[in-house]
Amino acid sequence: MSTFVELVEKRRSVYVLGTDSQYSKKEITDRIREVVKQVPTAFNSQTTRVVVLFDEANNKFWDHIYDVQKDILEGDMWDLMSGVMTGAKNGIGTVLFFEDLDAAKKMPTQGTRTEAYKQNNNANAQYAVWLALAEIGLGASLQHFNIGYEQGFDKATREMFNLPETYEMIAQMPFGSVEQEIGEKEHIDADVQVKVFDK
Ligand SMILES: Cc1cc2nc3c(=O)[nH]c(=O)nc-3n(C[C@H](O)[C@H](O)[C@H](O)COP(=O)(O)O)c2cc1C
Repeated sequence: MSTFVELVEKRRSVYVLGTDSQYSKKEITDRIREVVKQVPTAFNSQTTRVVVLFDEANNKFWDHIYDVQKDILEGDMWDLMSGVMTGAKNGIGTVLFFEDLDAAKKMPTQGTRTEAYKQNNNANAQYAVWLALAEIGLGASLQHFNIGYEQGFDKATREMFNLPETYEMIAQMPFGSVEQEIGEKEHIDADVQVKVFDK
């Protein structure tokens, strides 16, 4: 099996995070920068913007998410997701994924196609960063708290880090050392997932 396929298999959602890593903040950040730079985007539009949070910035961000979400989530969902929010503060940091709406507007498309390309661009970056973190032994998960540019849900995050108004928050990826057992994952039939024809 190729090293790449092994890496793809190694990447999993990790929620119980720690700070046990030999990699410095600079090494992690350099790696994220390099990967995001190489990610393909529709028309090479490079619409994705990434913000990496460590230490106080990470705590401040997750305290804010917690404060907002405690009034939104209820019951089982709160029990499940509040652990993700507090757990994110136990890790090393968080990668925030944005799309720059000014850059997205410059694509030679409109409407739902622009929206699809914007989301696809961002997803490519999310997955590449997730793999890059997994390769250096770091666990991460993908979260979608406080997203909703039109509704203003991500405004406070922009203000917190003095980000341009055109940045739409798409996802968050808290990361750190892996402090949990990773369970088996169910897979659908491979023949349903991938079909092959040669005539
Ligand atoms: C588009 C997308 C959205 C996701 N959203 C969330 C989320 O909001 N919260 C969460 O905990 N996991 C989220 N996940 C993680 C999936 O639940 C997870 O990847 C899936 O169950 C497979 O598990 P694995 O990551 O361990 O392979 C998301 C994954 C994708 C690809």
